[in-house]
Amino acid sequence: EKEGYEHFMLKEIHEQPKGIQETLVRRLNEDGTINLDGISMTKEDIENFDKVYIVACGTAYHAGLVGKLVIEKMARVPVEVDIASEFRYRDPFVDEKTLFIAISQSGETLDTLAALREAKRKGARILSVVNVVGSSVARESDDVFYTWAGPEIAVASTKAYTTQLICMYLIGLYMGSTKGTIEKDYYTQVLEELKLLPEKVEKLFGEEDQIAALAKKYHRKDQVFYVGRGLDSGVSYEGSLKLKEISYINSFAIAAGELKHGTIALMEEETLVFALATQDFLYEKMVSNVEEIKARGARVVAIAKEGRTEIEQVADEVIYIPPCMDEVSPVLAVIPLQIFAYYVAKERGCNIDKPKNLAKSVTVE
Ligand code: M6R
Repeated sequence: EKEGYEHFMLKEIHEQPKGIQETLVRRLNEDGTINLDGISMTKEDIENFDKVYIVACGTAYHAGLVGKLVIEKMARVPVEVDIASEFRYRDPFVDEKTLFIAISQSGETLDTLAALREAKRKGARILSVVNVVGSSVARESDDVFYTWAGPEIAVASTKAYTTQLICMYLIGLYMGSTKGTIEKDYYTQVLEELKLLPEKVEKLFGEEDQIAALAKKYHRKDQVFYVGRGLDSGVSYEGSLKLKEISYINSFAIAAGELKHGTIALMEEETLVFALATQDFLYEKMVSNVEEIKARGARVVAIAKEGRTEIEQVADEVIYIPPCMDEVSPVLAVIPLQIFAYYVAKERGCNIDKPKNLAKSVTVE
């Protein structure tokens, strides 16, 4: 079943171009517009929402962090993103004018399901982004936006995340075009960028050897930081979770601008920091953040877009992702982080597909 790959995780990392492609084609019409076939939300519903709540756990929550920025930008509606186990216990502001988006690979995560029921009880409209067809979350939602990642076996989620991101873009674009908050050109441009992603992810696999070499070099570290701004900040959280759950290295993610308010105290000689710098409009800011980190003696691996080489002057190593619009870069930037986590865990002899203390789906509170 592993089709020649040593682990399901590696196989699933490599299945991402296919999953992205599949998730996209199911929602694209021949005339280049998005279809919401099977989803009953009307134009009027979309215009009436005054708030969006995205609720999920773990990696799915990290997809929500990106979703928040994307939907806010495109549909000009306030979006809250919350952890399901927190949402449930704080009497959230949810009513008939709320669009509640639950994200879940398995569709069986108990906290997410309970949050969904709570939102439903309060009258929200429930749209879920789910990978497993017919799962509990899917069954209890008003509408389902499926990810077409195919079965995900490894405990560490990879292809579910990137396909969840695709759904966030499609939902943002659809809502934005329905409400008239985005221009036609922008809509077309983002869709074109999305269509190029499978090929670009495939191209990134060409860097697997470089990343595996970094893993060899750094696998004995006992703490690793991930920093970024804007969309890169969401991706940092996901990179950090991937590393800790399969390699058991203490990792930590933080918005780069927040470092100097405390966490930079932990930076010392030989601390390893992944600095994500894929957002053009925040690039200079990230270069300064990397300088601050370097001044404490830490090692920095930057992730930047091809062609943006200035960061080489401050970082120790740079992994380049293919050029793209800022909006879609999370889908590319996460790939080297997944590959790095995988090879570090391998170097450390960990049980990659079934890490200790973890289950694929968490059906207890
Ligand atoms: O099935 P779900 O997407 O609801 O699962 C949510 C989390 O339990 C899951 O993403 C978990 O964090 C993964 N092990 C992360 O790799």
